[in-house]
Amino acid sequence: MSQDTSSNRQHALPSYLNSEDLGAWGIYLQQVDRVTPYLGSLQRWVETLKRPKRSLIVDIPVELDNGTVAHFEGYRVQHNTSRGPGKGGVRFHQDVCLSEVMALAAWMSIKNAAVNLPFGGAKGGVRIDPRNYSKAELEKVTRRYTSEIGVIIGPAKDIPAPDVNTNPQTMAWMMDTYSMNVGATATGVVTGKPISLGGSLGRVEATGRGVFVVGCEAARDLNLSVEGARVAVQGFGNVGGTAARLFFEAGAKVVAVQDHTAAIRNTNGIQVHELLAHVEKHAGIKGFAGAEEVAIDDFWSVQTDFLIPAALENQIDARVANLVNAKIVVEGANGPTTPEADDILTEKGVYVVPDVLANAGGVTVSYFEWVQDFSSFFWTEDEINHRLERLMREAYRAVSEVAKYNSVTLRTAAFIVACSRILESREVRGLYP
Ligand SMILES: NC(=O)c1ccc[n+]([C@@H]2O[C@H](COP(=O)([O-])OP(=O)(O)OC[C@H]3O[C@@H](n4cnc5c(N)ncnc54)[C@H](O)[C@@H]3O)[C@@H](O)[C@H]2O)c1
Repeated sequence: MSQDTSSNRQHALPSYLNSEDLGAWGIYLQQVDRVTPYLGSLQRWVETLKRPKRSLIVDIPVELDNGTVAHFEGYRVQHNTSRGPGKGGVRFHQDVCLSEVMALAAWMSIKNAAVNLPFGGAKGGVRIDPRNYSKAELEKVTRRYTSEIGVIIGPAKDIPAPDVNTNPQTMAWMMDTYSMNVGATATGVVTGKPISLGGSLGRVEATGRGVFVVGCEAARDLNLSVEGARVAVQGFGNVGGTAARLFFEAGAKVVAVQDHTAAIRNTNGIQVHELLAHVEKHAGIKGFAGAEEVAIDDFWSVQTDFLIPAALENQIDARVANLVNAKIVVEGANGPTTPEADDILTEKGVYVVPDVLANAGGVTVSYFEWVQDFSSFFWTEDEINHRLERLMREAYRAVSEVAKYNSVTLRTAAFIVACSRILESREVRGLYP
């Protein structure tokens, strides 16, 4: 029998995880430990956050185009549903594993609670490299996966959405499969659908718009005018491209951009609409005539007011953090800053708006999509943008007040707000039975 020491009581890891290699789940546990002292009497319930409510692993057998049968691993984890149905994307990637999906599901619980959406957190994934399979094969994988997880998803239970390597077409197949299985068209079972199937206007731009809105709020707190401010953006896709355009249209100067093809700089300001057209044509920023190409480190060290990482995770590590010359970092990407880099930025006085707050615009418009599907009544794009802006602004204000009150970073404050909301629901609901 193992010894019941206080440390293994605290972390009581589930037996199905490898305690030597917790991956992303280990980072998440550290984040929970960091906020626990701020949770007051709710600390009594904190173990709730350290265990996913439900984890489902499924086998996905599929007949490939060449007549052979392949098997894929699929996951759906519902981390917490105290505040409402599970909500979170489905990722198709060859490295998907249980501890990663658990962490991503937990971060969705935090994000949804930080923005005060009436959802819990969930995430799904299939361990597959989609580049190696035809469209017909991917359709079969998606349909069988949906059917296998069909017992735990549903418009009132858990609502998937697109994530890495999945898209509106994937959501259309998921919605169709679920609908066939329950015998009725159920548009509200997934979000991020094509507009013709009950998708929402404004969803494509929502994350970048949210980044812009919280960036403006942060600037207000630092007495910085957005008009004339300098902006540097890493990643010029959906999130980075939209955020850059909105800053540009608000009179800011986009002085540097980096993507997977190049890093470019123009201290007089890049014409963002021209750069967007260039990317549309050339699938990257390389070769853009309106700026000079620079080394990647020159991108990170550029003098700027806003730095917006909107590409991949772990881009700002300790080395890069030491180069950064920005006043405000707004995290468009998920997990772009390592914990060590985060501490360096804080020491340097850089104001970091964390991913769980800054990129929540996407799931917020997913929430609007779900609401519109329930009522079968669709809002205009203006209404959606207006509601998104109000919700993001309120979320930023609530987190920033907690940060000031406790003298902590916005990241810790976002976790305090989110964990308190989740555990308050846990407490008032009580334990069943
Ligand atoms: N799209 C959403 O609604 C949404 C919501 C929340 C979070 N996010 C996160 O935002 C980030 C970007 O998502 P997206 O939807 O804009 O993706 P995207 O595929 O549209 O764009 C990704 C961009 O990152 C760039 N990039 C890729 N590898 C790079 C590298 N090694 N160095 C520099 N740049 C690189 C690409 O060139 C591209 O410009 C991801 O972390 C994603 O998880 C997206």
